[in-house]
Amino acid sequence: MPTHYEVADWYQLPRYYDIAFASRNTSEVDFLQALYERYAPGGPILEPACGSGRLMEGLLRRGYDVHGFDLGASMVDYARKRLDARGLGCTIWIDDMSKFRTRKRYGMAHCLVSSFKYLLSEKAALAHLQCVSASLRKGGVYVLGFHLSDYADQRADSEEHRGARGRTRVTCRIDSEPPNRKTRLETLRARLVVKMPTRTLANETTWQFRTYDEVQFLRLLAKVPKLQHVATHNFSYRADEEIAFGEEDLDSVVILRKG
Ligand SMILES: C[S@@+](CC[C@H](N)C(=O)[O-])C[C@H]1O[C@@H](n2cnc3c(N)ncnc32)[C@H](O)[C@@H]1O
Repeated sequence: MPTHYEVADWYQLPRYYDIAFASRNTSEVDFLQALYERYAPGGPILEPACGSGRLMEGLLRRGYDVHGFDLGASMVDYARKRLDARGLGCTIWIDDMSKFRTRKRYGMAHCLVSSFKYLLSEKAALAHLQCVSASLRKGGVYVLGFHLSDYADQRADSEEHRGARGRTRVTCRIDSEPPNRKTRLETLRARLVVKMPTRTLANETTWQFRTYDEVQFLRLLAKVPKLQHVATHNFSYRADEEIAFGEEDLDSVVILRKG
């Protein structure tokens, strides 16, 4: 365990982010493919906050027309280069989840791993859902995965992700402080340790997420009547297993269909 962590934005290190989360790629891509085949009325797929492009690559390899954007220039640059290098034509650009407009209309959009919670105000979160709704075809779905908060549970939480590529090994530990019902914020810290043959890099990033319990999320969603909540899954990413929203599991993936 390193004793000193360099404080820097981990999204400036897209390759290491990508290695740490790669073990989830196949199950998440399988899940997204199954949902597309079940719900989408055809058309391309959009990933707001696409990060390193790990899910874009998986879906492109399976023949889907995939578009994505992210606010982080380093992430977009990394994603574009990786997809170009593999000969996977794609449309990827820098944009903000709460302000984007698209000329295309999508059959499915998806945003997993709580990225939506980076939008720290109700106004920004609402604007995001409105932008997604405007970008979808009629009947298209938004697959939105995020961790709900139980404000009664004031324990700190943590999770660890590990991955390796060649001789580079990455461990990512994410610690989260309890959610605050009043401010609707929670503080998280990611510690990334990258072991390479010649050196070890230790990086620390702290950020805040907006918090939602199920009532707060449904209240937000009610402001976008075009998006109807049709199903919920959890982070086991099994398309054949639905759960009751907010009751069985805080790790939620909601399916919102544009009417
Ligand atoms: C946890 S990563 C998820 C990346 C990718 N969706 C995945 O599943 O690996 C969160 C991403 O959200 C991006 N992000 C944060 N705020 C954003 C915003 N307002 N608009 C677009 N992207 C944003 C970050 O740059 C980062 O790449």
